[in-house]
Amino acid sequence: MATGILGHEKLSADSLSAALPHKDPHPLPSDAVAPSLVYPNRLTKAEVLSPLYASFIQVDTDGRTAPIQQVSNNSLILADNLFGLHGLLESKRKATLIYLDPPYNTGMEFQSRQLEHAYSDQLGFAAYLEFMRRRLILMRELLTDDGSIYVHIGHQMVSHLKVIMDEIFGQNNFRNIITRRKCSSKNFTKHQYSNLNDFILFYSKSPAYKWNQPGQTPDEDWIQKEYPKVDKRGRYKLVPIHAPGTRRGETGEIWRGMLPPPGKHWQYVPTKLEEFDKAGEIHWSRNGNPRRKVYLTQDKLVSYTDYGDCFRDAHHQSIAVTGYPTEKNLAMLRMIVSASSNEGDLVIDPFCGSGTTMHAANDLRRSWIGIDQSFNAIKAAITRLRHGLEPMGDYVSREEDDQPHDRSNVLDMFAGLSSPTKDKNGPASKAKASDHQPALFSFVVDDELLEMYPEEIREMALI
Ligand SMILES: C[S@@+](CC[C@H](N)C(=O)[O-])C[C@H]1O[C@@H](n2cnc3c(N)ncnc32)[C@H](O)[C@@H]1O
Repeated sequence: MATGILGHEKLSADSLSAALPHKDPHPLPSDAVAPSLVYPNRLTKAEVLSPLYASFIQVDTDGRTAPIQQVSNNSLILADNLFGLHGLLESKRKATLIYLDPPYNTGMEFQSRQLEHAYSDQLGFAAYLEFMRRRLILMRELLTDDGSIYVHIGHQMVSHLKVIMDEIFGQNNFRNIITRRKCSSKNFTKHQYSNLNDFILFYSKSPAYKWNQPGQTPDEDWIQKEYPKVDKRGRYKLVPIHAPGTRRGETGEIWRGMLPPPGKHWQYVPTKLEEFDKAGEIHWSRNGNPRRKVYLTQDKLVSYTDYGDCFRDAHHQSIAVTGYPTEKNLAMLRMIVSASSNEGDLVIDPFCGSGTTMHAANDLRRSWIGIDQSFNAIKAAITRLRHGLEPMGDYVSREEDDQPHDRSNVLDMFAGLSSPTKDKNGPASKAKASDHQPALFSFVVDDELLEMYPEEIREMALI
């Protein structure tokens, strides 16, 4: 494993390089210049932020409508999110967490499992970049200073969006690119490697952002591998007591007649190492090499890494879903919402699709606002929030026999969410039948849309 050392430690006599005698006659750009992507119709930040007005109407569960001054928390908005985001900015709303899973720029059309049109993903390269950039600029303004944003995206656009997000949020606020394993296997039809992953770009608005370290309860295989040794105090592992880099202070000094190995320092000051040894927490090898015993504790959680292997999307028929295409894994959204917000905080998803983020946020007692322009998406979101999810298998049988929808089979959207399992689809993926608790929320629509499609929207409100 490669190990870096601090900048001030690198200037040893062996740091020779062939680059030293020559200088490139064409200077490189200075660090003060932020790189950006170039294309036509790129608005300035001020132009993007200049207000765009739309009026919103609330549609109640009995189909009655009422104009609203501003969107309240716990609302599902049927609108183009450009106008939805401007509306939220106008109301001076601030969110602690924004998660978005926009179209990936695949050039495809998407249908639900019921074969209804869901959304189109056909913008073209430059148009897509500016479409995303404008919305991301608005989203930054909507974040609290301790807020975070997660952009879920495919391999097609991840590199371009990284550049755009560095520009908008600042490279110093980049936290992770999470690689998420989205499925178990794929047909190998092309002459290239099979694509199993997508990505989540995680940025904070500032270096002081909310963070609750997320983790999962370790399984037996992990425990045996990571904590292989046992003594009368319990399971433990041995870890080195030195770390890379030389130090001039106490951690670079002699302890028990030994200096730290060359290029390293003790991880603790000698008095602390003495304490560990007295408490029986130092293991001495036969040739006198000390290592620290780290014991397994009851509350041990395994932290999630930037490789998400346990959050695959629905992959077998007992998993409860809405049937919306590209619906994301609920357990993954629960993990993100828990990590980057606290109870009562506002969570926004401006491309909310079937409402997976809203579901997780509602379950974890956050306030939330979801926006989508697809009728099919908002129908799926209203259905899941009011009535719950259904096992994926149901969609298959309904397609075959076209029977009326039997709600006795609806599953509780909150069931089974706390018990960790070894399922690769994550702990929250298998809901169990039980009484469903409907979420309370407002359904809000762009007024012009309501004028164009009054019947369709009324039907949605009655779901
Ligand atoms: C990949 S899907 C989101 C799926 C969602 N994460 C879920 O779990 O169901 C992307 C969504 O973005 C929506 N969308 C695309 N352009 C939009 C726009 N300008 N305003 C609002 N929604 C938009 C699409 O209708 C689609 O539902």
